[in-house]
Amino acid sequence: MKVAYDYDPLLYWHSLHVASFAAPFTAYLGYPPQDQYRIVQASLLHDLGKIYIPHSLLNKPAPLSAREFGEVQRHPEIGYALLAEEVQDDLILDVVLHHHERLDGSGYPDRLRGTEISDSVRLVTICDIYAAMTEVRPYRAQLSAQKAFQTMWSMTDGIDSMLLDVFKDSQIWKEREPKLAELCPIDYKRAN
Ligand SMILES: [Fe+2]
Ligand SMILES: [Fe+2]
Repeated sequence: MKVAYDYDPLLYWHSLHVASFAAPFTAYLGYPPQDQYRIVQASLLHDLGKIYIPHSLLNKPAPLSAREFGEVQRHPEIGYALLAEEVQDDLILDVVLHHHERLDGSGYPDRLRGTEISDSVRLVTICDIYAAMTEVRPYRAQLSAQKAFQTMWSMTDGIDSMLLDVFKDSQIWKEREPKLAELCPIDYKRAN
C-alpha cells in the first residue's frame, strides 16, 4: 500500500475505499472471517498494476484514446505478475487479474463470461465500480450515490444484478460514506 501511496495518493485512496465496502459487505453476506480478510486484502491490491501505468494516463483530464485505454487495460495483468511470486492465495490473484471481467464477455483481460467469473471477483467488482463512481476523478464529475446506482443498474449485462441489489439494500455504502469522506486526502465535494 505504501508503494501505491507513493506512486499516486488517489490510487491509494481508491484501494482503501474499495476495501472499506468489501469489509462490511462480506460480513453482511455471512462470509467466514478468514474469507472476509482475504477479500479485503484482494480489494486493497486489486489495482496494484497501475503503479506501472503513467500518471499522464491515469489522471488524464480528458477521454483516453484507444491506444491509451489499451495501455491502462494492462494493469490487471501487471498486478498479477507483480504478486504471483509473492502471494500464494488464488482468491487474491483471481481478483487482481479479473476485476475488469464482465458477465457478457465484454471485459478484460481474459474475456471471461458468466460462471467463469468467481463470486469473489463479482463482489469486488461491485465495490470497485461503486467506489470509483463516487470518487473525485480529474476526468469526470463525481457521482451521487443515486446516480452511481442508476448507472450500475444500466450495466447489469456485465455485473451481477442480484449482488448489486443486495449491496444497495445493505445500506453499507450509506453508513460508510460520511466517515470516509473525512479521511479522503482530496476534495470530496459533491458534483451536484
Ligand atoms: Fe482496475
Ligand atoms: Fe479499482
